[in-house]
Amino acid sequence: MASSGFQLLKRTLGNPSTAARFFSSAPSTPIRATLFPGDGIGPEIAESVKQIFKAADVPIEWEEHYVGTEIDPRTQSFLTWESLESVRQNRVGLKGPMATPIGKGHRSLNLTLRKELNLYANVRPCYSLPGYKTRYDNVNLITIRENTEGEYSGLEHQVVRGVVESLKIITRQASLRVAEYAFHYAKEHGRERVSAIHKANIMQKTDGLFLKCCREVAEKYPEIKYEEVVIDNCCMMLVKNPALFDVLVMPNLYGDIISDLCAGLVGGLGLTPSCNIGEGGIALAEAVHGSAPDIAGKNLANPTALLLSGVSMLRHLNLHDKADKIQNAILNTIAEGFYDGKTAKEKTRDAD
Ligand code: IPM
Ligand code: MG
Repeated sequence: MASSGFQLLKRTLGNPSTAARFFSSAPSTPIRATLFPGDGIGPEIAESVKQIFKAADVPIEWEEHYVGTEIDPRTQSFLTWESLESVRQNRVGLKGPMATPIGKGHRSLNLTLRKELNLYANVRPCYSLPGYKTRYDNVNLITIRENTEGEYSGLEHQVVRGVVESLKIITRQASLRVAEYAFHYAKEHGRERVSAIHKANIMQKTDGLFLKCCREVAEKYPEIKYEEVVIDNCCMMLVKNPALFDVLVMPNLYGDIISDLCAGLVGGLGLTPSCNIGEGGIALAEAVHGSAPDIAGKNLANPTALLLSGVSMLRHLNLHDKADKIQNAILNTIAEGFYDGKTAKEKTRDAD
């Protein structure tokens, strides 16, 4: 859906009488939250989120921080120290896409944020959207990814000319805390099963330790079913029948890949939210799609993923009535299938 669908959503929420119907509760004391609009399409989709939150009377006061143009020596990246401090103080934030260099250049800003703020669990809910037709209409799962180590440790070097090495680090501490988060999440959200995804048949030490930690935590949650699935088999099962899964927990790189696979089952990265959780209840929600510089500034970008990430942020803040209402408004707008001035049916007909 291009953003004109969201003009419709904003208009609906922007009309005071309609807004009152959608959002009945009075605004309370504003909560300060950090906003990183990001690069490329980031600022325009962040603008949509701000407008929709305003129309919905969400009691959030945004503190905006932009990606710098020079490296800040204190963070070793284009992210300023002040912007990181802002998340540390507010304890909650929302982040748009930030361009990542491929195979060279500065460290990914996404990773800098996760590392510096110790955002150890990455939660990506993935569910079918009524009205947005894909091969499946019964997807309802959550991927929980370890977010600080594994293949993302950034420890790469050349051993000798023509031979390079990348270290995959798995620690007991990080594995236990992400496993704990996954089981706690499952219990809190009435989920039945946690599947640990691994390749411990090959990576016996690293993935073996990850599984050992998951088993230890599973014992504390007898009410939640626990299973272990090898990653390649998991991919096959997911594309054959995604309804086989409930909550999936896994090391960093597997989580990166599986979460994209799952997003593909329901329509893509433009429709799926994500939230990074850190120690002491810190949360940074983010859209995980790219910055799409080719369409930046053309009012073509779809803000759904950032908006739904904003909804995750509201849930983290226990603002469930606002979260429900914005989420329902998004789902209804998509289900109506009226965007770009055409209904979904008309679009399909045009494409035939
Ligand atoms: C994600 C993204 C990031 C990752 C990139 C942008 C560094 O793909 O959040 O899934 O690899 O973690
Ligand atoms: Mg990814």
